[in-house]
Amino acid sequence: MITLLSYLCAICHAVLLIRADSIADPWPEAQKLLSSIPKSRDPMKEAAMESNIDEFVGFYVPMDYSPRNEEKNYQYVWQNEITDLQHQIYGLLVQSSEQFNNSEATYTLSQIHLWNQYDFPHNMTLAHKYLEKFNGLTHFTNHSAIFDLAVMYSTGGIAGSNNLSTIPQDSAKALLYYQRAAELGNLKAKQVLAYKYYSGFNVPRNFNKALILYRDIAEYLRGMYSRDEWDIVFPSWESYNVRISDFENGLLGRGLNSVPFSTVRKRATSDIGSPFIAQVNGAQMTFQFETMGRFTLSGHEGHIDDDEDDEDANERRIIRIYNAAWNDYRGTYSQSRNCERAKNLLELTYKEFEPHVDNLGHLQVLYYVSCLQLLGHMYFTGEGSSKPNIPMAEEILTKTLKISESISASMGRANIDLGLINEYITGNVSKAVSYYTRAIETNTNNGIVEFQLSKIATLFPEKKIGDPFNLMETAYSKGFIPAIYEFAVMTESGTNRKYSVENTAYLFKTFVDENEPIMAPELRTAFAELINDRSEVALWAYSQLAEQGYETAQISAAYLMYQLPYELEDPPRTTEPRKTLAISYYTRAFRQGNIDAGVVAGDIYFQMQNYSKAIALYQGAALKYSIQAIWNLGYMHEHGLGVNRDFHLAKRYYDQVLEHDHKFYLASKLCVLKLHLKSWLTWLTREKVNYWAPTIPPNTSEDTQPPKTSWYKQLTNILQRIRHKEDDTRATEESHKHRTVVQNGATHRDQNVQETSEILGFQVEDLITMGCILGIFLLSILMSTLAARRGWNVRFNGAQLNANGNPQQQQQQQQQAQGPPGWDFNVQIFAI
Ligand SMILES: *[C@@H]1O[C@H](CO)[C@@H](O)[C@H](O)[C@H]1NC(C)=O
Ligand SMILES: *[C@@H]1O[C@H](CO)[C@@H](O)[C@H](O)[C@H]1NC(C)=O
Ligand SMILES: *[C@@H]1O[C@H](CO)[C@@H](O)[C@H](O)[C@H]1NC(C)=O
Ligand SMILES: *[C@@H]1O[C@H](CO)[C@@H](O)[C@H](O)[C@H]1NC(C)=O
Ligand SMILES: *[C@@H]1O[C@H](CO)[C@@H](O)[C@H](O)[C@H]1NC(C)=O
Ligand SMILES: *[C@@H]1O[C@H](CO)[C@@H](O)[C@H](O)[C@H]1NC(C)=O
Ligand SMILES: *[C@@H]1O[C@H](CO)[C@@H](O)[C@H](O)[C@H]1NC(C)=O
Repeated sequence: MITLLSYLCAICHAVLLIRADSIADPWPEAQKLLSSIPKSRDPMKEAAMESNIDEFVGFYVPMDYSPRNEEKNYQYVWQNEITDLQHQIYGLLVQSSEQFNNSEATYTLSQIHLWNQYDFPHNMTLAHKYLEKFNGLTHFTNHSAIFDLAVMYSTGGIAGSNNLSTIPQDSAKALLYYQRAAELGNLKAKQVLAYKYYSGFNVPRNFNKALILYRDIAEYLRGMYSRDEWDIVFPSWESYNVRISDFENGLLGRGLNSVPFSTVRKRATSDIGSPFIAQVNGAQMTFQFETMGRFTLSGHEGHIDDDEDDEDANERRIIRIYNAAWNDYRGTYSQSRNCERAKNLLELTYKEFEPHVDNLGHLQVLYYVSCLQLLGHMYFTGEGSSKPNIPMAEEILTKTLKISESISASMGRANIDLGLINEYITGNVSKAVSYYTRAIETNTNNGIVEFQLSKIATLFPEKKIGDPFNLMETAYSKGFIPAIYEFAVMTESGTNRKYSVENTAYLFKTFVDENEPIMAPELRTAFAELINDRSEVALWAYSQLAEQGYETAQISAAYLMYQLPYELEDPPRTTEPRKTLAISYYTRAFRQGNIDAGVVAGDIYFQMQNYSKAIALYQGAALKYSIQAIWNLGYMHEHGLGVNRDFHLAKRYYDQVLEHDHKFYLASKLCVLKLHLKSWLTWLTREKVNYWAPTIPPNTSEDTQPPKTSWYKQLTNILQRIRHKEDDTRATEESHKHRTVVQNGATHRDQNVQETSEILGFQVEDLITMGCILGIFLLSILMSTLAARRGWNVRFNGAQLNANGNPQQQQQQQQQAQGPPGWDFNVQIFAI
């Protein structure tokens, strides 16, 4: 009986087990399997672990976009690259989400598709579907998911084509979601709203609301720093707040940008002995460590290297050591920091060189003390080890200063660190002040000196250091992050009566935006995804940051969607919504002070033949002294695009270009010359003629069809192309795609390339000018011969021309001899 019962029980049990098995939510299993495969790839971290750090790193910026290609790509990846394990996991996740309404699985599915997690392909449509479902399941209580959804609606799922993407652009809905997420405490959503009120985008402009929101976030961020961090060692991070166009030639092409490059952490290499460096860079670290002992022998005990001058080799070596340590310490865009390695290297260097300091050359000493300074700083901050070592820091930094006196080099960092040690640890404020004063003019002073002095001035007014407010303002203007906050607070509290809501909102905005690790870690993610060749994911990240109000991200997102083509290249093939969004981002960046972005937006409108918009943007940029915009205005007035044709105004614009920048002397002069010819011709033919623009197909009427390019633009573009060819010798060339070198070895090469092209540029310009003059000269000889033979009246035209009020330039007078209109066409071709 008992056995029977237990039998029955066992059977029941088994049946139950089977039943449970068939209906159980597969989420735990999926979760377990997911944890066995890597979630994402971090190319910068990987690079930091490698010893061979000079390998080629770069990214593609695709020109074209088509939803159909994306779909094909998506299908291709599913069919060819997804492993069985991935298929299994995906099946389990979908089952868990669809049959069991499991919110975690649903959320995972949405993130997988959004961020290419676990190597699943990006698919905005699916991400949107699962996000909507997740928010429904959680009754809109998860603010990060609501924020994601809001970004999707405000960008239209990155402006997919209207019928392929199911995500409509809906700014009202987006605003609602941003507000909901902000209420639930989402910082990024608050930042988006603050930026919207600040810039008046989608909402009426309201500085008060912007100020309240920005201050709210700023206070929260301020609370996250400990006293030590805020006052003594402000944490440093690897900023990716860069425009990706700056890894190429900026937005407008080299030499034409008004906005300085945003890239500040490119790899440090040295010009001195660069061929040697380039050659050994491949095995830099190994080289340094392995040869440390041997080099000491050959370097300091009189052995001479086979092919190297002894002194030279040592100089190069210490420079190389310093650069390697610096790159490791600070991290570069393609390689994360590796403080341990930097510290090891510096400690070895210290031990090795210390006994020989007196025998070193000037340059060697300079780099040696730079190494010491960095080592002392690392002891002070505790970077590269578990905790700070203040006595050691003080010893090394004092030594740094002592040695540097012998070569009269100013060591800003060391003075600052010693000042901090004296102010906060030893408590000798007057000594600290004397250190600070010595560092104040050095370029390592990022504003921290004025920040500290301002604090001391507030605490000890009797020391007569200066006005705390002014000191803090200087510290802020140099970009020291805590100073931005303190200055904003001072301004708001009405110190010095400089208060204005707009200003204060701007200050808090700057502080909030600067807190990249909390507000915008996606800047780094986006860059990593670019290197991983997933530009759609990068675009998603950048567009989210663009909504948050990051100017650099607005440019990067716009640049990923629509780059101005090089001349003779087709414009990017993309969808209308994307183009519109790109223009919108360029315009928003322009409103935040990026003048070049205004020109680009104008250029895109120009290409779309929306001349009134283009003119408006150019005028805005011209007010801020954008040379390119002034030039374009001249061009549009010359050709009567969007405005009435007005040669006088055009000439004024061209002259203005000359006033602002003498680099454009020849180009500007030629343009003015061309204008004179044109007005002369117009006068002669007494009608609107346009035979001087041979690019216009003869059948189109002149004012509806724009000349494709100004000759000057063609010229600059030829230059850009020449440069590109050189760049591409290293990069793999693909049609309509080019690889951007992020940094390794790029700094050095860039300089060379720039030089060559500048030289080349002048040559090309010179050649063209000389060609023109020569042509005109020959023609005039020909004409005068002809004229003499046929008895044409040459003087008549000359007189008319003078009556037109044209200046008497030499070339012009030669042209005056050219005679009847029958020849004008030829003349024009030469002149253009
Ligand atoms: C996204 O996934 C759906 C369903 O698998 C597919 O039909 C669609 O083509 C994908 N979209 C893209 C852009 O890959
Ligand atoms: C999942 O949720 C949807 C919508 O809330 C509901 O219609 C459906 O019945 C649920 N399914 C299960 C298996 O609970
Ligand atoms: C939103 O939900 C996901 C998945 O449950 C979770 O990982 C995340 O922490 C949640 N976010 C917030 C802000 O609650
Ligand atoms: C896609 O949109 C275009 C124009 O917006 C329309 O003509 C076409 O019919 C649409 N296609 C589909 C499949 O909806
Ligand atoms: C501070 O340092 C100065 C030397 O710069 C020294 O003369 C002075 O006695 C020190 N003061 C204190 C309180 O230690
Ligand atoms: C130019 O663009 C603006 C904004 O997109 C639009 O409102 C306007 O109608 C366009 N004008 C022309 C002539 O296309
Ligand atoms: C020139 O353009 C007109 C319309 O603007 C058109 O009717 C005519 O066929 C065109 N001629 C040629 C040769 O293309």
